[in-house]
Amino acid sequence: MGYNVAIDGPAGAGKSTIAKLVAKEKGYIYVDTGAMYRGLAVHFLRKGINADDRSAVADACADAEVTIGYENGAQQVYLNGGNITDLIRGEEVGNMASRTSAIPEVREKLLELQRSLARSHDVVMDGRDIGTNILPDADVKVYLTASVQTRAKRRFDELQEKGVACDLKEIERDIRERDERDMNRDIAPLKQAEDAVLIDSSDMTIPEVTAEICRLCR
Ligand code: C5P
Repeated sequence: MGYNVAIDGPAGAGKSTIAKLVAKEKGYIYVDTGAMYRGLAVHFLRKGINADDRSAVADACADAEVTIGYENGAQQVYLNGGNITDLIRGEEVGNMASRTSAIPEVREKLLELQRSLARSHDVVMDGRDIGTNILPDADVKVYLTASVQTRAKRRFDELQEKGVACDLKEIERDIRERDERDMNRDIAPLKQAEDAVLIDSSDMTIPEVTAEICRLCR
């Protein structure tokens, strides 16, 4: 059994940035489970499937194999053997991932992959249901959040920096919608595990949040 750190929280709370830094500091591997949902989303988009068509999504799971690997320490996502890491960050893929992640077959498909990584490695795993559902016995559980406004502003700055045209209000609306879907779905909704430590990063710097989580680790 590996040493397991679970970090859950809503979109844009800084989970991946922080989880990567904690993993580096502690010598654990970073597992981005959202990237796995995004990997399946690429498959659904390629097949032209409508996210509302639950049975089509469930059927399409049968011929998708998502795996992950590491190149220079960075997580890579493979779909049926092809590296799709560069394709998963767009809004279209994110929306497809957010909508299809509520479908049981989709979650079932990724559950064992996530658990087996945690069994065989020391991991910092981030997602929505890691502490509540995937790794209920994780050694450290953190629920990392921030206000909607803070999260939207961070996302806005990130896109601006990349030179992508965007609108702050639109991003804020998108984040609210994603929160709503993640928190209210029937299966594995986003919520703080009872034994998770709550960290609100709205007024904290990245090094401060990283240090706080590292302090919780062995
Ligand atoms: O974190 P990220 O935005 O990459 O995740 C993409 C989508 O995958 C989220 O909007 C969420 O709906 C879903 N997801 C999930 N469970 C996880 C990780 C992500 O449902 N453990």
